[in-house]
Amino acid sequence: MYRQTIPIKIHFAPIQGITDYFFRSAFAHFFDGVDCFYTPYLRLTKGQEIKSSQYKDVLPENNNELPIIPQIMTNNHSDFLFLAETLHNLGYSTINWNLGCPYPMVTKRNLGAGMLDKPQFISDLLTEVFDELQPKLSIKIRSGLLAENEILNLLPLLNNFAISDLIIHPRIAKLLYKGNANVEIFKQSIPISKHNLTYNGDIKTLSDFQDKQAQLPSTQSWMLGRGLIANPFLAEQIKSNSLLTDRNKMSIFTEFHDSLWEHYSQAYYGNTQILNKMRGLWEYFSFSFSNSHKVYKRIKKAKTVEAYQQAVSINIRSESWLA
Ligand SMILES: Cc1cc2nc3c(=O)[nH]c(=O)nc-3n(C[C@H](O)[C@H](O)[C@H](O)COP(=O)(O)O)c2cc1C
Repeated sequence: MYRQTIPIKIHFAPIQGITDYFFRSAFAHFFDGVDCFYTPYLRLTKGQEIKSSQYKDVLPENNNELPIIPQIMTNNHSDFLFLAETLHNLGYSTINWNLGCPYPMVTKRNLGAGMLDKPQFISDLLTEVFDELQPKLSIKIRSGLLAENEILNLLPLLNNFAISDLIIHPRIAKLLYKGNANVEIFKQSIPISKHNLTYNGDIKTLSDFQDKQAQLPSTQSWMLGRGLIANPFLAEQIKSNSLLTDRNKMSIFTEFHDSLWEHYSQAYYGNTQILNKMRGLWEYFSFSFSNSHKVYKRIKKAKTVEAYQQAVSINIRSESWLA
């Protein structure tokens, strides 16, 4: 049974290609500590529609009444309101706007982090949509597109809007995922912003969290992405301030893995798609295993379902869970 815990809040970051509705539900079934899950972004197609896979991902019947905040990606008034209304009609009381996606294909179209160097554009768009917006708005941003100080120009403008939560991944988009998240720029944002700030970036272990919490003692809200996929026990470890060494983590992980396998091997067509999907997951899971490089290599080498199952079985039997 899924339990929510207090007092710090942990948000599960959206990770396109991984944190879909089935992953979120299976995660919540096996692991504790997450207060809120975000969907990967929804975006309208050229034909002004929501892709059916993205719509399926937010349908309430697929989301087991979990606390979910759907994310949208848009840079114009009409798409913004259309997506917001659609999600509100599905029962979502809060949506999240993506101002963080760093990929050039996105940013050069003035989407995601592509707007961060144009604070007035963001402010004007919010002015246009806010009066008609039905759900509450949370926003996820990076510290900048090209320069760390872009956020410092944007935050005073965001203060004019009733934003329910501002999630900051303090790393410029130009870096994609290279280098380190800049905790200092998050710290500088605290006195400038009047909003609830959520810290996001590079928390992979309990000690990473403790280190960042020591630098940001007033921060109560945290978002975890890659670290939580690699080690699904991490949110509970953080909440309980313990590594949970008394748990049989390998056995719980195995059940989690098997439920993902059962679902994806039926939901996807053809070995290549199924195995690619599982390989994407092991890219993260392998970090929690002894010999993580070898663990991932075994999975990568598997070209058939039988070989995959054998590789999983060897990983689970012959390696240990380290996280
Ligand atoms: C493969 C991948 C897909 C991502 N997809 C999204 C997305 O759809 N929306 C979003 O806001 N962030 C997305 N992110 C960014 C994460 O939500 C998060 O901000 C980032 O990974 C930093 O947090 P972490 O260090 O805890 O992973 C993605 C990141 C990765 C690596």
